[in-house]
Amino acid sequence: MTKIDFQKETFIRNPYPVYSEVREQDPVFRFLLPSGQYAWIVTRYDDAVNVLNDSRFVTNPPYVDEIVGSHVPAHQAIISRNLLTVTPSDHRRLRRLIQKAFTPRMIDRLRGRIEEITNELLHQVQDKNEMNLIEDFAFPLPIIVICEMLGIPFEDQDKFRHWSDVIMEGFNNPSLMEQSDSVMKHFVEYLQELIAKRRDKLKEDLISDLLRVEDEGDVLSEHELYALVFVLIIAGHETTVNLIGNGILALIEHPEQKEKLQNEPELIHAAIEEILRYNGPAEVSNIRWATEDTELRGKRIRQGEMLFVAFASANRDPAQFPEPDTFDITREVNNHIAFGKGVHFCVGAPLARLEAEIAIGALLRRMPNLRLNSDIIDLEWRPGMIIRGVREIPLLF
Ligand code: HEM
Repeated sequence: MTKIDFQKETFIRNPYPVYSEVREQDPVFRFLLPSGQYAWIVTRYDDAVNVLNDSRFVTNPPYVDEIVGSHVPAHQAIISRNLLTVTPSDHRRLRRLIQKAFTPRMIDRLRGRIEEITNELLHQVQDKNEMNLIEDFAFPLPIIVICEMLGIPFEDQDKFRHWSDVIMEGFNNPSLMEQSDSVMKHFVEYLQELIAKRRDKLKEDLISDLLRVEDEGDVLSEHELYALVFVLIIAGHETTVNLIGNGILALIEHPEQKEKLQNEPELIHAAIEEILRYNGPAEVSNIRWATEDTELRGKRIRQGEMLFVAFASANRDPAQFPEPDTFDITREVNNHIAFGKGVHFCVGAPLARLEAEIAIGALLRRMPNLRLNSDIIDLEWRPGMIIRGVREIPLLF
């Protein structure tokens, strides 16, 4: 069995050489999860796309009815039926509802507001000549945007930062499970109250829109609504934070690319796509379950077994991308799968792209000399296989 240690510090810092080796030698292999269970992982681009498009691999666990059964706490039951865990037919229905709020046209209406928030945040640090990119800018931006979209009051936004931090860590670190469980309870109670308030008085926000859809006789249940909002908040900001963070790091590490982008700001779209490919924030997919016995690269995957797709590896596959380890913001063909592929393709991709474009564009314009106030080797990468990102990025400018 291939030995790959997802907890190992050197792997967390730079997993790409290891992925390159396994893509060659053992592209589909079994490994041990921190939970003690075994799972498969797919590392080549073609296999990744095939798995994500294959309806025999589903995201709803075979035992979901047990999870939702009476012996689990109510708050867990509530959020356990979300976009990533419901059956394929419920998923189609939920996707249709949420997709209405996430069209590129609707997202583009947010452009002015995202620019305003970006300018306010950068204004607060501009005169200090230094900042912690994550803390001061990359984290607050997406959380303010998603909270405003959903209609969550400004004064509650700090709570969300704390809750989502603990919940994300809990996914990766079983020893935090208890703390994460208690935070999840607060999170769900908060949503219950907020949604009840909106029910009394609808406003112009996403929660109200989803309630309106519900009121019109559609089939979004109360629990589905909580779960949907929960997933949007969780899925929507850890990722965007790290797209901005990883992006600025890649540009600082490749000064000639940074300069090119500063001289030709219209390259920003291509630059964001290259950042997503080169060091995207979603390293590995959510779990897929095999609904029947299948074979992949000579490995027998049995019904009920778990499987992951390593986006980070697929996006550096030389069979798909010439010189995959080169960071090139002018790359012409860039079919990366940093937002996934198939029916679970990221709902928030247009929003994430817009936020990153505005954020990175503004940073390079307002702080043209930005540089690291630390050795790159001292940066601490977050553990866990789902999210790729650095905890703190001290910058001088
Ligand atoms: C750079 C930022 C982002 C990245 C790299 C990213 C990446 C991904 C990926 C790879 C998936 C598919 C996972 C899988 O197939 O297992 C996904 C799904 C999803 N993303 Fe994102 N995401 C980002 C931002 C956002 C934002 C801003 C939102 C919402 C506000 C969001 C909401 C979702 C939701 C709801 C799903 C589940 C879709 C489904 O199951 O049908 N994401 N994302």
